[in-house]
Amino acid sequence: MLYGRRRGRVLKAEGKSLLEDVLPQLKIQCFEGQKINPQDLFPHSPSQVCLEVGFGYGEHLAMQAELYPQKGFLGCEPFVNGVASLLQKIDKLKCQNIRIFTDDAHILLNHLKPHSLDQVFILFPDPWPKKRHFKRRFVSIETLKKLTTLLKPMGEVLLATDHQDYFEWMKEVVQNSLQFENLTPTENEWKISPQDWILTRYQDKALKEGRVANFLRIRLKTVSI
Ligand SMILES: C[S@@+](CC[C@H](N)C(=O)[O-])C[C@H]1O[C@@H](n2cnc3c(N)ncnc32)[C@H](O)[C@@H]1O
Repeated sequence: MLYGRRRGRVLKAEGKSLLEDVLPQLKIQCFEGQKINPQDLFPHSPSQVCLEVGFGYGEHLAMQAELYPQKGFLGCEPFVNGVASLLQKIDKLKCQNIRIFTDDAHILLNHLKPHSLDQVFILFPDPWPKKRHFKRRFVSIETLKKLTTLLKPMGEVLLATDHQDYFEWMKEVVQNSLQFENLTPTENEWKISPQDWILTRYQDKALKEGRVANFLRIRLKTVSI
């Protein structure tokens, strides 16, 4: 079930034409009963496959794709203006290594081949601060359980949020997900962004409003518990 908006401002002509002409070549389709091997989505055989959930305007995804052309990137984002913004970046950078799913990431997670992902980014997911909406939060015991089936051994997940209550929630979820090892167990590590990082429009706004980001990096253990 998808919560949140799919559309924002009316798109300019460039965005519209990228959605019509370029998106169909990059779009990931999920079909009933079929599993997707992400390796098959790329013309080159990617050295690693990374997934970004809710890429927003695509700043982080495009930056990663440019920095690591040998890797393949899957991006999920149902917000059409965000997809158009990523397409503009892809067009400008001429990157060949991004594929896009334009719906709820849970659907894609249910269609991916087991143990096909090396890295997952869940950056500033919607915080859903009201208690009655907690079940909408993307980071949950169930999602991490699903990711244990999709990540390769030693595969990593990067979580970020600017919402203190959601961060507490994330830490608890991680603590209760025994198949993962927390690579950032101490407080001074939570504030450190990865080296290959970019300030997105969303994080910039949060910072200007006085909310700082906290990060958690977790890794799938090789021996399952
Ligand atoms: C707060 S924004 C953060 C955007 C981006 N990660 C960033 O850091 O700039 C959260 C994004 O997650 C997307 N989103 C929400 N639920 C989603 C879902 N179930 N699957 C994929 N994307 C989702 C929203 O459309 C929105 O763009």
